[in-house]
Amino acid sequence: MIKGIKTFFSKLFKNWAEKLEKPKTGETILKKKVAVPGWLLIIVVLSSVLVALISEFGVEKHFILASLIFSAFWSYVAVSFLKFEEKISDSKLLLTAIVIIFSVLMTQFAKSQDWPKYIIFTPIAVSILNFLISRKLAKLCAVLLSLIAAFLYLGDFEVFFITLAGGLGAAAFPRRIIKRTDIFLNGLSIFIFIFASALILKLFGMHQGNFILDAVQVPLLVAASTAVLVMGMLPLFESIFNITSDIRLLELGDFNQPMLKKLMTEAPGTYHHSLMVAALAEAAAAEIGCNSLLTRIGAYYHDIGKINKPQYFIENQLGDNAHENLKPEMSALVIVSHTKEGLLLANEYGIDDCIKDFIIQHHGTTIVQYFFRKAAEAGGNHDETVYMYPGPLPQTRETAIVMLADSVEAACRALEEPNFEKIRNNVNKIINNYFSDGQLNECPITLEDIQKIGGVLTKTLLSIHHIRLEYPEAESPGPKDAVFEVQASPADSNSDSVAEKTREKGRGKNRK
Ligand SMILES: [Fe+2]
Ligand SMILES: [Fe+2]
Repeated sequence: MIKGIKTFFSKLFKNWAEKLEKPKTGETILKKKVAVPGWLLIIVVLSSVLVALISEFGVEKHFILASLIFSAFWSYVAVSFLKFEEKISDSKLLLTAIVIIFSVLMTQFAKSQDWPKYIIFTPIAVSILNFLISRKLAKLCAVLLSLIAAFLYLGDFEVFFITLAGGLGAAAFPRRIIKRTDIFLNGLSIFIFIFASALILKLFGMHQGNFILDAVQVPLLVAASTAVLVMGMLPLFESIFNITSDIRLLELGDFNQPMLKKLMTEAPGTYHHSLMVAALAEAAAAEIGCNSLLTRIGAYYHDIGKINKPQYFIENQLGDNAHENLKPEMSALVIVSHTKEGLLLANEYGIDDCIKDFIIQHHGTTIVQYFFRKAAEAGGNHDETVYMYPGPLPQTRETAIVMLADSVEAACRALEEPNFEKIRNNVNKIINNYFSDGQLNECPITLEDIQKIGGVLTKTLLSIHHIRLEYPEAESPGPKDAVFEVQASPADSNSDSVAEKTREKGRGKNRK
């Protein structure tokens, strides 16, 4: 009878695990996984530059040859610049290409229609790239587009200067769009930059014609139309190219989001843990200069996979231990599966890809040590792969920070009578374990970053636990600040192992 029940549950768990085997991966363009070859994009952008130049200069042989050489040179510069971008996705690359093509062709069209040369298109292109991709890329595009505009206007320095100033103005302020007034401020920044550059040209005697029209009226038109187009096009580009802007991140961070509400009501312990991790991770991200907003929102969602089986996770248990009647490998299966379960839930609730990265990467390929050891002690199945998270390892600094903050939060929650010394040692030990275990090998994090993260996590935990920072009089704080000070076994690095240890301690206490 008991054997029959055990077989039944084994099959049930096996089927459930198989269902989780192949979760949907990220979708990129128009909700479909579309691979865009980089070389094809370069050819298309190159063609647009060629078309603009040839339609401006004509189809004579030497013009075609010059256009070809210029386009090749320009592409070389563009590709060299793009290499500075960290892992730019295909959809972002495609958006960059479209924005460049639009700007080049519109500049040529404006020239052919004899529009005032102060009607420029770099501000709209740069604003979109700045708010959807990166500020660095946006500024590089401002330079490249100004170069083309100058050629199209037969080497007119005034056009080059105004186009560059308009582009840089679009990337100058604000850094992020998080409310509607930021779009207005962006327009204002564009206007100020164009006006200032027109004034410089006027004072140097390089400006001819109506100053009020060129320095005030046309720039106002350019700034206003940029603001309107950005407001209208951002949501469109976000959904087409599956890029998450700051506005979208703020929406995802709203606690009225169905997913967060579900987490709050069905797994309140996990919800509280996620808030703590978010506070720690956000502070660490701000310290090393990476995207703190993305890190915070990623931390909110990192454990949503626990919603389906909250009672199997220590933070949601009020007394009974759901693992008591399970074999260690079954317990490990339930715990390890929360990353895949989270990914399935994120797909179901339309959570963005950049947040899904936090869900599947926040445990890397660590091992659920508690159950692994338990199985080894009991002489059962202790094949490491059964107890190992499938990964992948954190690919960005943001996901790496959430991985560390997650473990550190769980470990410090388990501390009895936490004090400065205990918290600092714990943080250092955990970071050291993750580093030496190779869990940070695939993200562009430096030793300096790790050092800073350790310091911020310690400081934030101290304030969370209301502990005043006091150094014992005789002790020098110097060498103990080193991240790699504590040598410990990687066994303790997993947050779920820490949680299970806490449970063990609790049980010990209860028994006493
Ligand atoms: Fe987790
Ligand atoms: Fe967690």
